[in-house]
Amino acid sequence: MAKRAEITGIAHYVPDQVLSNFDLEKMVDTSDEWIRTRTGISERRILKEGATSDMAAKAVQALLANRGIGAEEIDVIIVATVTPDMFFPATACLVQDKVGAKHAWGFDLSAACSGLLFALVTGAQFIESGAYRKVVVVGADKMSSIVDYKDRNTCILFGDAAGAILLEPTDDMSVGMIDRVLHCDGSGRDALYMAGGGSLNPPTAETVAQGMHYLFQDGKAVFKVAVVGMADVSREIMDRNGLKGSDVDWLVPHQANLRIISACAERMDLDMSKVMVNIDRYGNTTAATIPLCLSEWWQQGKLKKGQTVVLSAFGAGFTWGSILLKWSLANPVAH
Ligand code: ACO
Repeated sequence: MAKRAEITGIAHYVPDQVLSNFDLEKMVDTSDEWIRTRTGISERRILKEGATSDMAAKAVQALLANRGIGAEEIDVIIVATVTPDMFFPATACLVQDKVGAKHAWGFDLSAACSGLLFALVTGAQFIESGAYRKVVVVGADKMSSIVDYKDRNTCILFGDAAGAILLEPTDDMSVGMIDRVLHCDGSGRDALYMAGGGSLNPPTAETVAQGMHYLFQDGKAVFKVAVVGMADVSREIMDRNGLKGSDVDWLVPHQANLRIISACAERMDLDMSKVMVNIDRYGNTTAATIPLCLSEWWQQGKLKKGQTVVLSAFGAGFTWGSILLKWSLANPVAH
């Protein structure tokens, strides 16, 4: 019998250290006013010690505590990230060991800011096929490890965080992951990338001297396609499921720029009061933005059982997509 994948647990981790716009004013030629008005960001979190797997493991441990299950019950761990601890072993293996998930296998998935959506859809396949019963999907990025803090075009945008989601099967076909639309278009590769360190440009003193180990973004080019891509895909998933703006309780957009988020909400006929926004406090944490929003809103009792939720993202690749969910996880504050 067909199964549905539903979200049965959610948690997040953010490092304590705050990097504010005022701190950045001392590092590059920028201003708090410019950053807030162009991006909506006031501050972001920075992981000083440790790596992506440390944040991911903390988010998974919090998830297990929320759900009240042991790590040995996890079947699969998928980590969406563009900042793995190393090329190999996979960050998923490091998380598996750190949380003691002795019966799990896992792998990393690279789709930049759309990583969480790609990983959720991948994880749901394992549940829907009946192959596995507990799949942990993590979005985690230590963006501070690939950002050049001398480049004002990019260093103001990014932060570090992790979010973890547990997927389990349900026979109730009216809840869980209802629909998904995913895309990629590699012709956008020149607008957002990290050139060095891979097989194309193996690291040498020269690649380092040229800053090829840092993220590069043509902000203006990405901005234009991100607005259209995220709005189009969100509209598409609503239209093909017969939903009007008034039927959607929450839009959970990837947090890259408040202006991109507002344009997407407008296209969906959604009031901003129905849009999860925490970019002001965390900046763009790449694969972590969506679970970080879901986890905060759920913990605060604002994301409730029975609500209709649209997740949307756009990122490097280009990659973009949208997922329609019927939220079925009872609220921790409500009871
Ligand atoms: N402080 C002050 N001035 C700045 C700063 C800064 N931090 N950064 C750029 N400027 C200057 C520029 O040099 C430029 O000056 P000029 O006109 O003299 O050349 C001016 O401000 C305007 O720059 P723009 O790049 O046009 O600024 P824009 O309004 O486009 O905002 C931004 C830049 C915020 C990066 C925006 O383009 C954006 O959000 N892009 C999309 C990001 C995104 O969605 N990324 C995808 C996900 S990320 C991922 O997948 C990893």
